[in-house]
Amino acid sequence: MVTLPENSSNQIYKLPGRTLKLNLLQNMKLVLQPVHFLEQMQQKYGDIFYTPPFSIFPPMIVISNIQAIQEIFTADSQLFKSGVGNEIVRPIVGGNSLILLDGNRHLQQRKLLMPPFHGERMRAYGHTIFDIAQQVMSTWTAKDSFVARPCMQEISLTVILRTVFGLQDGERYQQIHQILTKMLDSFNSPWSASVLFFKALQRDWGAWSPWGNYLRQKQRLDELVYQEIRERKNQPELLGEDILSLLISARDADGQPMTDEELRDELMTMLFVGHETTANALAWALYWVHYLPEVREKLLQELNSIEFASAEPMAIAQLPYLNAVCCETLRIYPVVFFTFTRILQTPMQLMGYELPAGTMLSPCIYLIHQRPDIYPEPKQFKPERFLERQFSPYEYLPFGGGNRRCLGMAFAMFEMKLVLATVLSQYSLVLAQKRPLLPERRGLMFVPSGGVRLLVKERKNRVHKS
Ligand code: HEM
Repeated sequence: MVTLPENSSNQIYKLPGRTLKLNLLQNMKLVLQPVHFLEQMQQKYGDIFYTPPFSIFPPMIVISNIQAIQEIFTADSQLFKSGVGNEIVRPIVGGNSLILLDGNRHLQQRKLLMPPFHGERMRAYGHTIFDIAQQVMSTWTAKDSFVARPCMQEISLTVILRTVFGLQDGERYQQIHQILTKMLDSFNSPWSASVLFFKALQRDWGAWSPWGNYLRQKQRLDELVYQEIRERKNQPELLGEDILSLLISARDADGQPMTDEELRDELMTMLFVGHETTANALAWALYWVHYLPEVREKLLQELNSIEFASAEPMAIAQLPYLNAVCCETLRIYPVVFFTFTRILQTPMQLMGYELPAGTMLSPCIYLIHQRPDIYPEPKQFKPERFLERQFSPYEYLPFGGGNRRCLGMAFAMFEMKLVLATVLSQYSLVLAQKRPLLPERRGLMFVPSGGVRLLVKERKNRVHKS
């Protein structure tokens, strides 16, 4: 048994053979080339290692050991805090956001938020997703080229505004769309994102300063979102099948509805964590399908075996090879490399280590998905793995796990499948440059470098009639 010293920002844990002290170059690599860096560290130090604090990054234990992941995901949820690890997004999502809550409040809020994301509900969103994908794609014409990532982002943003916020075309929709696009884009360069990491930069020095500009946009956005919430609450006939309507009608165990502030914060959370993730996953999927002709052929064969124009969304979502392609896309380069950090509330024994309260545990999705003992030839894109065997939730975790598993998992997979099927059924595309793509950092995510430029060879006439 190894006993670790009390956690403090300048101490190194004594993990024999597994302790890592980063020099400046290694620190830079962790930020700029995390793929190589994480792989090197895993080879050198094993599947549980410690990284000391650096700049804005806290000290963490990086974990890619399956049994340890199982122990973390199945432990009593009161053992950890995750909310504090997500603190930097508080200015965007607000203090009532699910991702900032812990303990009983987190549990209760999850119960309220979960029903709209499951089963029958999903069916209703399918036709909306088809319509939006077709509308965005209608601008692609033969011989044109386009970059997949921003196009997929336009689809996923519109999908969230319609299915989650329940917004229909009109002035308020246009204004919210415009402000949101600007606001989210403003955090995407490493320079502007630093405002979120450093509290000292969060000063209102007028509309031209980054923070001042952000605050003004946020205030306008809040006004619009609150107008929408109040209007719907006051006119029940406006309530529909969208997630906001369902949340307005939801009641907790004491029969209490969600407050306007809670509603606003959860809407912003879903938007913030739900649209870019799905867009990036779709950009990766389009890359792999067009990079590997045999994968595209098999997928087309499967899609041709159904009457696409009149197919029910659920029937498309159940196609096995389409499912395997989406799963493999999220395995090989998961859009998020780590789950949320789990911070120990009390000491815990993990794989023989005695970990003190305060320790930050970081399950590393990327390293787990690259384990050759689970995924032979892990660098190869092979959807067949998902047809040949089932993986446990501790071996395959693009959506994290345990009590914090992604709330939008089923929704995101559904959207990915419908959009990918629509693109392939309606267009014949090729990569503008056929070269291997590596992930590059964009904010907190890892996206295909260059965004995946595609050329339109031909437009087929297989429109889905929703
Ligand atoms: C491909 C797309 C997506 C990926 C890869 C993804 C991944 C993740 C991951 C890794 C987590 C952290 C889980 C953990 O720490 O164990 C998470 C949490 C979360 N995701 Fe997603 N996500 C995606 C799409 C969505 C969508 C579409 C929504 C909603 C519309 C959504 C809503 C959430 C929420 C609310 C949480 C916080 C859960 C909690 O704290 O209890 N995500 N997601």
